[in-house]
Amino acid sequence: MRTTGVLPLKAAAIFPLVAGLARALGAEPCNGHAELCGRAYSNVSYACTHNAYSYPPPSVLPVLNQERTIAEQLGDGVRALMLDVVRPGPDAGASGGGGGSIVDKVLSWFSAAPKSGDLLDAVHLCHQSCALIDKGRLSDALTAIREFLDANPREVVTIIFENVSGFSAQELRPSFEAAGADKYAFVPGFAPTDAHSGYPWPTLEQMIAQGQRLVVFIDENADPAQVPYILPEWEYVVETPYANIVPVAQFPCNQDRPRDGVSRDLVVMNHFAYNRATIGSENIDTPLTAAQAREHGYNSIDALTAHAETCAAVWGPHRIMNFITLDYYDIGDGAIFQLVDRINGISA
Ligand SMILES: *[C@@H]1O[C@H](CO)[C@@H](O)[C@H](O)[C@H]1NC(C)=O
Ligand SMILES: *[C@@H]1O[C@H](CO)[C@@H](O)[C@H](O)[C@H]1NC(C)=O
Repeated sequence: MRTTGVLPLKAAAIFPLVAGLARALGAEPCNGHAELCGRAYSNVSYACTHNAYSYPPPSVLPVLNQERTIAEQLGDGVRALMLDVVRPGPDAGASGGGGGSIVDKVLSWFSAAPKSGDLLDAVHLCHQSCALIDKGRLSDALTAIREFLDANPREVVTIIFENVSGFSAQELRPSFEAAGADKYAFVPGFAPTDAHSGYPWPTLEQMIAQGQRLVVFIDENADPAQVPYILPEWEYVVETPYANIVPVAQFPCNQDRPRDGVSRDLVVMNHFAYNRATIGSENIDTPLTAAQAREHGYNSIDALTAHAETCAAVWGPHRIMNFITLDYYDIGDGAIFQLVDRINGISA
């Protein structure tokens, strides 16, 4: 029942035995399950939050994607966080992410510039513009993540950055160092070009043994020669379409980014929707409110399973959806975690 089309039947029959054996041997779990320890990082599915920083307060503007804090998300079992890094001040959002639209430009005029040249103050978590929502320094969020990794030595966590303001890797490094998060950061022992050919990724057990339990991707401007742990997302990761507009009949599974048709090792399954307003020739997409998310029911186990099964069919039996990415993951009675366990072949 838990394998409905997402996993091959054979795997489902074997995993409980492996789990039982691991328990008998006293093996410790990896990301909560002994079955995952021997699995390559790229052969594991993770619960992922879209715009993980975008939780209340404030709660008036239509810019929220979550209801719970980053520390709460990690405590609940979320293991991948999408974070937008934005420079507070007049140039925010001008170069990317929001696409430099008129709306972004107007908003940027209202955003306060950082008070000092301090790089920790210059890198905030904001939704396109810090005038809309400013959840403070990246370094503070990284501190919460580092504290979770300190307290949970058998957990592997991933960050996927959207580099809205065009930060260089060197500009992001001080936030990692101030938070003490750099010491956990994963540095691959293989070139990205190798990554397309198979599964060179270490197992979760190897990553835990090496103490490299924080995997960091960024969509633009990685510079691994300067900062080897901030990895270029599009060398390793592909994503399904994210601009899904209400009402969504069926969430799509095709490779949307990059559009080169070349596969990578890891797949983000984007499963969240936007309201779209059209003003003149410009589309303005805003996240659903939590109430709308409840009403539409996209986070139900049925809706999630339907999407995952479509993707399993599209991507074939040798690929799994690695990052199941939701808004308001806490809505849906834990369906995201049920789905992740099912993809991972974990028994309830
Ligand atoms: C992924 O993990 C499953 C379950 O352990 C295993 O059967 C499969 O061979 C792995 N895939 C790769 C490509 O390693
Ligand atoms: C950030 O994004 C901008 C705009 O896409 C890009 O020009 C810049 O190179 C990126 N920087 C990083 C660190 O990704």
